[in-house]
Order: sequence, then structure tokens, then C-alpha cells
Amino acid sequence: MKVTVVGAGAVGASCAEYIAIKDFASEVVLLDIKEGYAEGKAMDLMQTASLNGFDTKVTGTTSDYSKTANSDICVITSGIPRKPGMTREELIGINAGIVKSVSSSLIEHSQNTIIIVVSNPMDTMTYLVHKTTDLPKNRIIGMGGALDSARFKYRLAEALGAPISDVDGMVIGGHSDKGMVPLTRLATRNSVPVTEFISDERLNQVKEDTKVGGATLTKLLGTSAWYAPGAAVSGLVQAIACDQKKIFPCSTYLEGEYGLSDLCIGVPVVLGRNGIEKIVDITLNDAEKAHLEESAAGVQKTNGLLEL
Ligand code: 2OP
Repeated sequence: MKVTVVGAGAVGASCAEYIAIKDFASEVVLLDIKEGYAEGKAMDLMQTASLNGFDTKVTGTTSDYSKTANSDICVITSGIPRKPGMTREELIGINAGIVKSVSSSLIEHSQNTIIIVVSNPMDTMTYLVHKTTDLPKNRIIGMGGALDSARFKYRLAEALGAPISDVDGMVIGGHSDKGMVPLTRLATRNSVPVTEFISDERLNQVKEDTKVGGATLTKLLGTSAWYAPGAAVSGLVQAIACDQKKIFPCSTYLEGEYGLSDLCIGVPVVLGRNGIEKIVDITLNDAEKAHLEESAAGVQKTNGLLEL
């Protein structure tokens, strides 16, 4: 199993590290445009192999896409991260050109690859890959919901005073500060609805804290987060590489599912060796449907800024 990660910045390097430590891939190629940067990070990661106990071979290259040839999975993290006070949507001007060029170069060397988009604004960047490449829609995946769901579980565990391993929850919708839809009604603590433990008011605070989870960290860090984004995308890579058939909320191209069409947005999907193996149509209540439709309108507005 060969995986390419484009962008050796904090998110890309964290993703490569988590993939290596999980040791399910034979090779990870880290690519960056900055001279020597990916090579250096790859070498540093390889020098943890004996310490972290993995055999995955991590290599780096400066913009040589021939080194990515025949990759089973390609992760696109390249582009600029947001600064404090910025929205993800404000990155479109620069990141759209980068993502279009990177996806084209990747597919030139790996016609059968599965592309996972991380670069922001992620739903629109995923849509861009769908519109500018010939990859089938099951092989174009946007990573946002897995990260937002991890932040949702973090906030739920905090509110419950529970270990995170006891908590489950999912965030669907757009990967944007206003567009996320944390499914509080379906969240559980060891199969018990969390509404049995915490008030609606506290649950609403959990929802709001989840939606600004990225912005909260950007304010603290001065740049976008990287550990959780890297870990979230490594989980999608593992589900595909190991054909796990796990359900994740991922940004995918919709053609009528959830009453939505011609956009990529986060909905539950089954991930396996073929990428998105199935879009899972869960029953939403009227309020959740309205929030998802509102979120979709926001994503479509950002899509409208693309020069396709
Ligand atoms: C985040 O939410 C970078 O969009 C990513 O942290």
C-alpha cells in the first residue's frame, strides 16, 4: 500500500507520522515545493522508526511527482492555512489553484488513486477536484467531518466528565465555522443518549464550541491546528487501506442524497478499499434537515467563487 501526502507542513507531516506509526502502509511519500523540506521531515520521521516500532518506509521529495507514481491513496494538505480571525473560505483564492494543479499532477502518475482533500475551504476544494478531474466520485473524499466529530467528542466528554472512549458523536454538513451540524440528538455515552446526562443548554454550548473548534485553536496557535487534522485524515487512509468498511462523515459529491445535488458536503459514508463505498442515508429530524440545507447553501455560495 503506497500513500502520498502532498504538503509537508504541520498537517501533512503529522498525517505521515500517524500513518507510519500505525504501520499499515508499506510506503509513504511526502512531497513539498520547499527545497529539501519533505526530504528532511521524511528522514527525521524514519529516525523514529526504531523508537516507535514501525517498518513503513517514509521518503520525501521536492516537487518530483514521479516519486508518487502508483500511489493507492493521495492526501492533499497543500495550500495556506488560515490566520487568527480568518474564515476557511477566505483561503479559496490561493488554495484553489494549488489544489487544481496538485490533483492533476497526482493523477498523471497514479490514474487509479483515491484522493483525500484536506486543504481549505475543504468542501469547495473537494468539489473542485470533482469538477476538474476524471476521477469517479467514490475516489474523491473530503476530510472535515472526521476532525469535527473528534472535536465534538472532546467537548461532549468535557461536558459529561466522561472518558472520551465512552463517548460517540458525529458532525455532518460543511467544514465551516457556521455550517457544521453536530448531531447532538444521536450522541451517546456508552449507548445511552447524552441528553440523559446533560441539559439542552449545556449541549448547545457543546455544539457551539465544536463549530468553532478550529478557530479556537487558530486563535491560540496563530495558525491552523495540525495534530487532530493529521490524525483524522490518517484514520480515513487506514479505513481505505485496510478495507475497514467503517462509517465516517466525509465530504462527498451528492446527486440527490439528503435532497442535495451538485456539491460536496459532509455526510455519513462507508469507507473501504474502493474509497466511498456507500453514502449512508440516516434519518434526520426537521431541525437537522434545515441545518444541513442551510450549510449546503453556504458551501454552494463558496463554490460559486470558483473559476471552473
Ligand atoms: C481545522 O479545522 C485545518 O480546517 C482545519 O483545524
